[in-house]
Amino acid sequence: MPKKLFIRTYGCQMNVYDSARMADVLAPLGYAPAASPEEADMVIVNTCHIRERASEKTFSELGRLRDIKEEKDGKVILAVAGCVAQAEGAEIMARAPFVDIVLGPQTYHRLPEMVARAERGAAVAKVGWKAQPGLGILDTEFPIESKFDHLPAPDTVHGVTAFLAIQEGCDKFCTFCVVPYTRGAEFSRPADKILEEARRLVALGARELTLLGQNVNAYHGEGPDGSTWTLAKLSYALADIPGLERIRYTTSHPRDMGDDLIAAHGALPQLMPFLHLPVQSGSDRILQMMNRQHTGDDYRRIVDKLKAVRPDLALSSDFIVGFPGESDVDFAATMRLVRDITFPQAFSFKYSPRPGTPASLSDHQLPEELKDARLAELNDLLRAQNAAFNRESVGRVLPVLFERPGKHDGQMMGRSPYLQPVHVQGGLDLVGSIRMVRIDREHAYSLTGSFYDESAEASSLSSPQPRVTA
Ligand code: 5AD
Ligand code: SF4
Repeated sequence: MPKKLFIRTYGCQMNVYDSARMADVLAPLGYAPAASPEEADMVIVNTCHIRERASEKTFSELGRLRDIKEEKDGKVILAVAGCVAQAEGAEIMARAPFVDIVLGPQTYHRLPEMVARAERGAAVAKVGWKAQPGLGILDTEFPIESKFDHLPAPDTVHGVTAFLAIQEGCDKFCTFCVVPYTRGAEFSRPADKILEEARRLVALGARELTLLGQNVNAYHGEGPDGSTWTLAKLSYALADIPGLERIRYTTSHPRDMGDDLIAAHGALPQLMPFLHLPVQSGSDRILQMMNRQHTGDDYRRIVDKLKAVRPDLALSSDFIVGFPGESDVDFAATMRLVRDITFPQAFSFKYSPRPGTPASLSDHQLPEELKDARLAELNDLLRAQNAAFNRESVGRVLPVLFERPGKHDGQMMGRSPYLQPVHVQGGLDLVGSIRMVRIDREHAYSLTGSFYDESAEASSLSSPQPRVTA
């Protein structure tokens, strides 16, 4: 009987990617995916430490898993991976002794060895795992060898879109953020390894790749020619791969939005005109206290330059409200920036003090009620901008990449360049293809449309010309 593995993933897309790689690395040991933790022989909780709430989820999830483990007489291997494991490994071992393995994001390639050791532990466990102290394995090192060199290449693609990690870690040290501590120093994978993985993913059916990294546009990997490649250079090489229709990248930093990358947005149709570019705040004073190393105007200038080369570009962003010392004037500057630039999509957070970060030590922490009020105000504005963008999409003709059947019979679901779900009547043969769709209606979370036939449209002089976006 094959063994079964269940992975619960919290947090960012990098964690989603890491979870898939952990499944790949355990497949040779006979682990197949399980539908629930109850039916699994091994459960991995891949954790997120970015905000307090995310971190708390780890311990409540572990409580539930302890019950499952007890019901199965301890015959389940429990592993905690990700950034909480990295930051609080020893505490997890102490607070949750029923956990067998604690591993940080840099040691996934060593998982088979850890599992083999834990399986031996589990053999002992059959005669009473609770009585066996010290069985846990803790590996939260930052090893010299790169995990990327030791992880197997992906051999399945779920759907037509795939993630590809090209960079990891961060050297920016924003004063609110744990990432530089949990993910470590910035590291870029060599370009040829990335291109090889991209070709493989495309051969497996991917039509869209999202390049991942905590600071993805700081990418500075070694090129095949020995020179250092930027994200722009890498994007040109990726765009040459036949069958790769769409390229996205996330998460980027305004400081690393180089002119070559901005120019690439104008030159490469494969680079989608939808960019996640976190700004965090509109106040220069707060941006400085956050150590973001840019001003609100720097951000506006970058957006102007991007729109100059790609007028249909839309932005998504991250915002933090209630950073220590944020005044009404600072918050008003954030609201102004949002109104000026407009964000069809955005993620907004209440500042959450993270252990070990400089901002958590500030004496100017704001009361929760004030943070709540500001978050609500910002969210109202962002929701309105999102709704307006969807409303304005009606009547536009957009290229849609079809992914899977929709909820209703005979309906297919695809995504616009702006990641909006678009439903169209059609068959399964559409999966993986990009078709021009005229958006007819907007709904709460999606759009519906119909195929747009350019030749028919050209001959029907009476119909108004829809706006076409490439
Ligand atoms: N408090 C609130 N939000 C945070 N983020 C990162 N650290 C914190 C924190 N301490 C947000 C930032 C970042 C996103 C991934 O999470 O907006 O861009
Ligand atoms: Fe965190 Fe700042 Fe690095 Fe982003 S750039 S991962 S917010 S430290």
